[in-house]
Formats: sequence, C-alpha cells, structure tokens
Amino acid sequence: MAEIGVIGGSGFYSFLSGARPVELDTPFGRPSEPPVIGEVNGREVAFIPRHGADHRFPPHQVNYRANLWALHHLGVRQVVAPCAVGSLKPELTPGTFVVPDQYVDRTWGREHTVYADGRPVVHVSPADPYCPTGRAVVLATGNQQGSGEGAVVDGGTMVVINGPRFSTRAESRWHAAQGWSVVGMTGAPETSIARELALCYTSIAVVTDHDAGIATGDGVTEAEVYAVFGRSIERLKELLAEVIGKLPKPDEDCQCRHSLDGTAAADLW
Ligand code: ADE
Repeated sequence: MAEIGVIGGSGFYSFLSGARPVELDTPFGRPSEPPVIGEVNGREVAFIPRHGADHRFPPHQVNYRANLWALHHLGVRQVVAPCAVGSLKPELTPGTFVVPDQYVDRTWGREHTVYADGRPVVHVSPADPYCPTGRAVVLATGNQQGSGEGAVVDGGTMVVINGPRFSTRAESRWHAAQGWSVVGMTGAPETSIARELALCYTSIAVVTDHDAGIATGDGVTEAEVYAVFGRSIERLKELLAEVIGKLPKPDEDCQCRHSLDGTAAADLW
C-alpha cells in the first residue's frame, strides 16, 4: 500500500528507495506501467511514469483512468503530478515551476470519465480542480521569488491541448489573449479523473519553452522541451521529496475527499 502517488516522467524511477513494482489490472485496462512503491522522506509513495518507462504513450493515448484507479487502489489519497508546459506569458521563463489553480480542457477523443459503461451516472465539480492542501504545501516548500530557474509561481490557468503537435501561432496567441498562463498536453483529463475518484491532486507545471504565440522563432521544438525538462529534473526531485515529507497524513481530512458525497458512487470504490 502507498499513501502518496506521483505521476511523472520516467526520470523519477530513481527517486524511490527500495522500489518494488506491483502488477495489477484495473477496470479500465493496464496503467502506463506497473506502479512502483517505495519510500521517500519516510512516506510510502507509488510512482507511475505517465508516458510509460520507454515513453511509448503520447499524451492522447495515456490511460489516465487506469493510472489514477491503480493509485487509488493502492491506497493513495494525495497525487502530485509534474508535467512539462509551454509558457504563454513572457515573465514565466523556462525552468519556472507553476502551480496552476485552474485549467481549460481543449482535449478531445480521450476517455475522460470513470462514470460510464454501466457504472452509476455521477457529476463531480472541478470548479476548483486542484487540492488546496497539496498546492499550499508545494508553494510553501518552493521558494516563491518571481520567475526563472528555481522559482515556484502560485497560480495560473493551464490550457490543455490534445497534442501531440504543439499549437499554431494563432492558437497560441488566442490562448495567451485569454489570460491563460501555460499550455500542456496531459493535465486533462488527469485532473478531473482524480476528482472523480475523490483523490487530492496537485499539478507542478514545469515551463520548458515560450509557446509559439509569444516567441519570435520558428516555434517550439521537442528537443528544447526535453532538454529543459531534463535540466529541471533534479530540482523537481528535491522539491518533491520535501513536499512528500510534508503532505498530510492519510487520516487527515481534505475537501477533495468529499467529491463523491451524496452521489451514486459514494460507496463505489
Ligand atoms: N509541453 C511543453 N511545452 C509545450 C507547449 N509549448 N505546448 C504544449 N505542451 C507543451
């Protein structure tokens, strides 16, 4: 069993000590990889590499439902989910960690709910989609000094595109004109499925580039995204280790845990 879940890049395997894989199936098929459970800062953590250990699942083919169900099944109540994003604001420079407080879902064609196919009809509210407690711990742990390498920024809206392509300049300018902060490809439906399972979910969006609409070059490249994410990984692991040590214990209550109260799924999982 584990109390905290991390969904992130395969660079996090080395993060857990004494890690052991757990083979499991879910009502939604196989997770991206068997979760590995190990210890971080005295806490039992389950980790799943979102895109698979060999990065074989593009963002629109990640089995988000299976990943989150697997973590829930292992006892996880708090999920911390780093992801790479492009910046839609000049001041959010590569290397900045943004802790979003809202998202806009522009994905399509993804399996986006666990309440289908004969399960009860359930409508959860993602009005405030991220865990207030998890966000507060990440923000208090990171040093909040403006933006740039090492900075942790409180809040902002993440627009989630379907990918795997990046945005056109017009799409990107439109996203920026809405006042949205960052653009990624995995934050939805991951966030709302966590809410559907009454899991606390906190995103750490690692800025890897300025998106096409606010940059003058030829557009975003995969190479720059991977290079900047790779450079940020050690800092991200340090932040995560400290955050994990400070997250609430499993018996502490949180509003996220009540997302199914009064619904037909109150006792389902
Ligand atoms: N992930 C990292 N950079 C991105 C960008 N510019 N657009 C969408 N997803 C991203």
